[in-house]
Amino acid sequence: MSNKKNILITGASNGIGSALALRLASPDNRLFLLARNNEKLKIVAEQCTQSHAEVIIHKADVTATEDIQKLIESVDIEFPIDLIICNAGVTNTVGKKGEAETWGEITNLIDTNLYGVLACLNPLIARMQQRKQGQIAIVSSLAAFYGMPVTPIYCASKSALKGYGESLRGWLKYDGIKVNMIYPGFVKSDLSDQFNTHRPFMISTEKAADIIVKGLESNKASISFPLLLTFGIRFLNILPSRLADFFMGELFGAKKR
Ligand SMILES: NC(=O)c1ccc[n+]([C@@H]2O[C@H](COP(=O)([O-])OP(=O)(O)OC[C@H]3O[C@@H](n4cnc5c(N)ncnc54)[C@H](OP(=O)(O)O)[C@@H]3O)[C@@H](O)[C@H]2O)c1
Repeated sequence: MSNKKNILITGASNGIGSALALRLASPDNRLFLLARNNEKLKIVAEQCTQSHAEVIIHKADVTATEDIQKLIESVDIEFPIDLIICNAGVTNTVGKKGEAETWGEITNLIDTNLYGVLACLNPLIARMQQRKQGQIAIVSSLAAFYGMPVTPIYCASKSALKGYGESLRGWLKYDGIKVNMIYPGFVKSDLSDQFNTHRPFMISTEKAADIIVKGLESNKASISFPLLLTFGIRFLNILPSRLADFFMGELFGAKKR
């Protein structure tokens, strides 16, 4: 077997995931790209092959948790995964008049953003432990550090990933497995276009992918960007809640009613 690096990316058909695929496309890497939209995946794969990467696409839904576990295990049996980037995600927002998200929206979000990640990693962790190597990257969000009023369920899912990833890192460090948490601020994409708020310091998916890949290469525990927003949101955590809520509400609040 060749000594290419096997890299699996979920949510690789669009946005940050597709930019990561393109950024990682090289003759040294074998890319496994997963998402539901096969047509978009084909386009990303075609672009990646122009950089002489070997690319295998899988039409897959991370909310189909049994199927996704089987798929990832079967990939790993044939091509031991060196790096998995759990990136697939969706968002909802509260309605323009402050209406709550529907139960269907709530469960779909949690199924995708939280259970989807857990399902992808479940078959892989024990296998990586056995071979004493591997790298796990989880895309959370700066919204994990302080909830944005317009998108409560999304923030809940990303905070859950933060707790999970931090625990994984401590647990798996003695097994030779690297764990990197990724906390993007605003990145221009279909997902962030749904946020009907200010999106300060927004960057392109290409720029985000570049920061993420550099962070993964240097095994940064926490890859958060951009710097100013990271600083701002973490600063909120040391402010009295009333003050922090005020700033958060002014910047990312649901519209006043
Ligand atoms: N953009 C931002 O400002 C921002 C900020 C912080 C964190 N993030 C996080 O970054 C990640 C990527 O977001 P993005 O901005 O690039 O959004 P995006 O452009 O909407 O891309 C989302 C990707 O996730 C995939 N996906 C969604 N549901 C899926 C499912 N059930 N099964 C498999 N794949 C699924 C989509 O592919 P298909 O539709 O083809 O399945 C798509 O490839 C998300 O986890 C998001 O929460 C984004």
